[in-house]
Amino acid sequence: MFLPFFGLLLATSDLPTGYPTVPIRGVSGKPVRMPMIGLGTWLYPDAVAQSAVTTAFSLGYRHVDTAFGYKNQGGVGQGLQASRVPREEYFITTKVPGGLNASATKAALDESLALLRTTYVDLMLIHYPGSDSASRKEQWLALEQWALSGKARAIGVSHYCRTHIEEVMSVSHTPIAVNQNQYHVGMGRDTQPRLHDRAFDESQGILFEAYSTLCGPCDYPGNETLLTGPLVTRIGRAHNKTGAQVSLRWAVQQGIPVIPKSSTAAHLRENFELFDFALTAEEMAVLSSATSPAETGTTQNPDDAQDCSFERPAIVRASK
Ligand SMILES: NC(=O)c1ccc[n+]([C@@H]2O[C@H](COP(=O)([O-])OP(=O)(O)OC[C@H]3O[C@@H](n4cnc5c(N)ncnc54)[C@H](OP(=O)(O)O)[C@@H]3O)[C@@H](O)[C@H]2O)c1
Ligand SMILES: *[C@@H]1O[C@H](CO)[C@@H](O)[C@H](O)[C@H]1NC(C)=O
Ligand SMILES: *[C@@H]1O[C@H](CO)[C@@H](O)[C@H](O)[C@H]1NC(C)=O
Ligand SMILES: *[C@@H]1O[C@H](CO)[C@@H](O)[C@H](O)[C@H]1NC(C)=O
Repeated sequence: MFLPFFGLLLATSDLPTGYPTVPIRGVSGKPVRMPMIGLGTWLYPDAVAQSAVTTAFSLGYRHVDTAFGYKNQGGVGQGLQASRVPREEYFITTKVPGGLNASATKAALDESLALLRTTYVDLMLIHYPGSDSASRKEQWLALEQWALSGKARAIGVSHYCRTHIEEVMSVSHTPIAVNQNQYHVGMGRDTQPRLHDRAFDESQGILFEAYSTLCGPCDYPGNETLLTGPLVTRIGRAHNKTGAQVSLRWAVQQGIPVIPKSSTAAHLRENFELFDFALTAEEMAVLSSATSPAETGTTQNPDDAQDCSFERPAIVRASK
């Protein structure tokens, strides 16, 4: 008679019921629920990351995106601990630097767990493709082995073009769950598909995840266009929503998870309220055909093109 009770105690918890999610492929082959909304933390020092996580989690967020390279996993870990939310009820995405060999990869992966004060992450991404095919394969296999020991529920990549993904798939034993890429209004009519081939990713069962969906790092005025620009403001007025909410809704309505960064409570609250309205097909089409703000990075940062086996776009270096 105690068996059902025992079963209840063992029942694994998960993200809260009703938290908007999309299934991704876990390392074990079982689907994992990936949150459609999370908190970004790029460029935040530890203290800001800690307080942003604490505030976001008090508002209901259950996903944070960080990276070894952000040097703030310690602050994120402290914020998560301070939130007192049970570990099974939230989702951590972090990233290992691209281009490391197998032993350096494993060391960085374990250091991430220690800094984040956890025994596993939900999603571990390779942050950049690295410089050559052999090292990309070596690093993926090291990540895979580490994850299969119970340290990541799902694994994936970031900034990988089609050829990078094909290389990984040629050696992989586990699914590539996610490819995280820059994606925002202004680049819906994609001019750089070779750098973020969403159609290809989706054809392979790889979830396309967006970053910089508010164009935060874009040059002025692009960094404000998706917050207070005329197009998103006009559409927002029809729904009693802000421009930022329209910009984020445009991505999530396509099934693309977003991880907007904010350290302002009012903005965090706004960014979490994306699921009580829907853009019309006409509004979606207008947003998708916008041609600015353009993708950031490709014109200023030659490394953004990595070594995709395509002609690189003409590089126009920004004058400092
Ligand atoms: N894989 C990669 O290589 C990669 C690259 C870039 C980013 N990412 C990830 O994606 C996350 C998001 O991208 P991002 O940080 O580049 O920029 P973002 O989220 O597009 O924009 C962040 C900026 O928008 C402002 N903001 C946020 N919500 C707002 C609102 N509701 N109203 C007005 N302003 C608002 C924030 O300022 P306030 O603090 O004032 O709100 C901040 O300055 C990153 O933090 C990181 O986790 C990954
Ligand atoms: C792996 O990379 C690390 C850090 O760059 C280096 O110290 C180490 O010698 C490398 N190991 C091998 C087997 O190449
Ligand atoms: C956009 O960039 C400009 C120039 O760097 C800056 O002054 C402004 O505060 C930024 N706007 C936002 C919303 O971050
Ligand atoms: C508009 O949105 C604000 C902020 O969410 C809310 O307080 C207000 O009640 C809404 N107004 C209407 C008419 O729905």
